[in-house]
Amino acid sequence: MVLRPAHVCHASSRRAKLSSQRSKPLSTTGIVVDRGLEGVIVGSTLLSNVEGKEGRLTYRGYDIHDLAPHACFEEVVHLLLYGHLPTKDELESLKVELGAHRMLPEPLITAMQSTPKHAWPMDVLRTIVSGLGLFVDVDQTGAHTSDVHTAIELVAKVPTIVATWDRIHRGMEPIEPRTDLSQAANFLYMCRDTVPDRVAEDAMDMYLVLLADHSFNASTFSARVTASTKADMYAAVTAAIATLEGEAHGGAASAVGRVLLEVGKPERAETYVREVLARGQRIMGMGHREYKVRDPRAQHLETVARKLGEATDPKWYEIARALEEASNKVLKETKPDRSIYANVDFYTAPLFYSLGFSGDEFTPIFACGRIAGWTAHVLEQLSNNRLIRPQAQYAGPPVHPFEPIERRTGNGKT
Ligand code: ACO
Repeated sequence: MVLRPAHVCHASSRRAKLSSQRSKPLSTTGIVVDRGLEGVIVGSTLLSNVEGKEGRLTYRGYDIHDLAPHACFEEVVHLLLYGHLPTKDELESLKVELGAHRMLPEPLITAMQSTPKHAWPMDVLRTIVSGLGLFVDVDQTGAHTSDVHTAIELVAKVPTIVATWDRIHRGMEPIEPRTDLSQAANFLYMCRDTVPDRVAEDAMDMYLVLLADHSFNASTFSARVTASTKADMYAAVTAAIATLEGEAHGGAASAVGRVLLEVGKPERAETYVREVLARGQRIMGMGHREYKVRDPRAQHLETVARKLGEATDPKWYEIARALEEASNKVLKETKPDRSIYANVDFYTAPLFYSLGFSGDEFTPIFACGRIAGWTAHVLEQLSNNRLIRPQAQYAGPPVHPFEPIERRTGNGKT
């Protein structure tokens, strides 16, 4: 990994130009600060590639348009963690290992049972994942082992935490995970106490495949920064979950869920969009830092949301569809120089409503897929580590004399 201070290396001269046009210099030293690191390359990865202009996402060179319909989530986990798609035997042994790691330590289940029922599911997930680190051996320096088996353990346990809290906060008894079901089917089973039908399992599985990795997105970058200090994998994933929570990132899925409820029927979509934009607010689930076209994952999620809607209640899909059309139309009128289209979170909302989840669970379920990418990035970071420590451009007052307390007036003047 190559890291350079302030005068960073850019994707290409075109992006460099774009980046410096949008950035805001904070001083007259001539160093340009790239706000939000837009267009800045801070490292390299073999794991996934986001080509925002073309609207293409690949995992280790495989297009998600091929993976989504043909590979199950466990195959993608193997691809990310071991570097290649598994043979039948490799897939079988990964499934066995995942199944064996699904159970949570009993004290963590008790801790969730003692947690106030109104606690936000992402806060619970972050806290319990951090708690997992208490149940593994550490050496004399406090270091844990952070290897591929730790990664598999976390991939196995994150859905158990999400499903366990889903039931506890609804006043129900948690359900023990099963070892004979896929990640997708077992997750739905633990939430509902019923083995899902093929349609629901396939929809959940495709969602997990599509969410598994996305290059240096904010939460993954957070994980890598934490891992670069040589903190353990539980710490890195805890940081990633904290970063995923915000509305500008994974929190948008739950926000779209609230929007669908507020809009209520397809005919209200355009009025809603106009009102939101008139207030200077954003349409949740629309826009992306990297994609300047529709997010390639949205088309698959739209398809499964429509299919599931046909089998259950088409209402959520129809509102989402109308909302996307209205957003495209109104954003073209109001922000013609911007490219703001549906992102991965947009069709997650109707899909999850059709699967029977409540809106506050959407972002934790995102983590059930992204845990594969987070852990793979931590391993990649550790395999060629250098502390990630950028610089800031100081914009405060120049050096000046210390003021003894008796001479301070409280307004900064002596
Ligand atoms: N609705 C309306 N306007 C938008 C939207 C939106 N969803 N997204 C961006 N814009 C506008 C901004 O208002 C701004 O316009 P202006 O310059 O006229 O004021 C312009 O586009 C650029 O906005 P930035 O915030 O600089 O763009 P950025 O690249 O940082 O935005 C982001 C990316 C944060 C995702 C943004 O599109 C957004 O807030 N979307 C809504 C939240 C969301 O869906 N987040 C999930 C992203 S996907 C994921 O992380 C899994």
